[in-house]
Amino acid sequence: MSVDQLTCKDFNFIKKKRFAGSVFLNSLRSIYFKLIYIRNHMLKDLFETGGSTNNYYQSINKTYVNVFDKYLMLHYPFFKEKNEGLEKRQVNLTDHCISKVGSLQNKKVLEVGCGNGTQSIYMYNNFEPEKTIGVDINQNNIELAKNLKNGHEKLEFHVDDAQKLDKIPDNSIDILFCIESAFHYPHKKSFLDQVERVLKPSGIFLIADILSRTNKKRIPLIERWKRKMSFHHWTENQYTGSFRQTELSLVHKEDITSEVIKGYMDSGNWIKRKQFNNYFKYLMLKLFVFIQVATNVILLHNRRRYLIFVGTKNSN
Ligand SMILES: C[S@@+](CC[C@H](N)C(=O)[O-])C[C@H]1O[C@@H](n2cnc3c(N)ncnc32)[C@H](O)[C@@H]1O
Repeated sequence: MSVDQLTCKDFNFIKKKRFAGSVFLNSLRSIYFKLIYIRNHMLKDLFETGGSTNNYYQSINKTYVNVFDKYLMLHYPFFKEKNEGLEKRQVNLTDHCISKVGSLQNKKVLEVGCGNGTQSIYMYNNFEPEKTIGVDINQNNIELAKNLKNGHEKLEFHVDDAQKLDKIPDNSIDILFCIESAFHYPHKKSFLDQVERVLKPSGIFLIADILSRTNKKRIPLIERWKRKMSFHHWTENQYTGSFRQTELSLVHKEDITSEVIKGYMDSGNWIKRKQFNNYFKYLMLKLFVFIQVATNVILLHNRRRYLIFVGTKNSN
């Protein structure tokens, strides 16, 4: 077997095995294998995560299962109280969004960009909608969502592009949520046209999105990487200007950047050493989470904002 293929199991085996030779040689070998392990696992995962949107969400889903033994929502945390875990803070964001649209009871709810389905399932289980549909462009996420939905007939998941919404009939939705997904859409105006098409007259939409503070371009290398990751952040003016070109009326706009930044408070406690037998796996996840948190917090302080837009489709 090549050292490039070393896995966690092999690593534990090598750790236990004593090779013939001096203590010094054994120590050198051990350091060598540790470095290969770090390269194969920590660095490879980190580079792959930043390689495409699909890789990114697969890594996040994998991390959730490794750390929490289950899938969590895929959005940023929202602060309410001290010492809350990530799961609670993500639910806080969902609850905050739901509180802006009124009751979901007996309503047809659509979540656009539903990720692994956890948020749609949470809405379905706790707010008694008549039906909940989740759509996402990522096939892996939709397969996870279908596995997690547990046979509920009034909960559907489909692969679909937010800019087309092929699976959703005209005038069929009472409440549409799009939470932390629209920054991925290159043609956001097409998405807003679809929101207008699928909503019933007087239907409600809520878009929670990560916005850019300015529309200044960055250095070409970063712009290329952003295209690869499908990052197309709009500014507030781009949003409000585009709403004016549709039959959608904005009724509420809210900047929740500071609650989201505070949501990362205590994130050092989200992963605990005692959850892992393997020290390197623990280190790898700590580093992965640290990089995610630091990047998000720095960007939210300097370049991005987190806004919620709530509105209705005109009923003429
Ligand atoms: C940050 S996750 C948010 C998931 C979910 N809304 C939540 O809050 O947990 C963003 C999701 O948007 C999806 N997405 C990206 N581009 C899309 C598109 N054009 N149409 C539909 N979904 C898209 C991604 O696949 C990903 O699952």
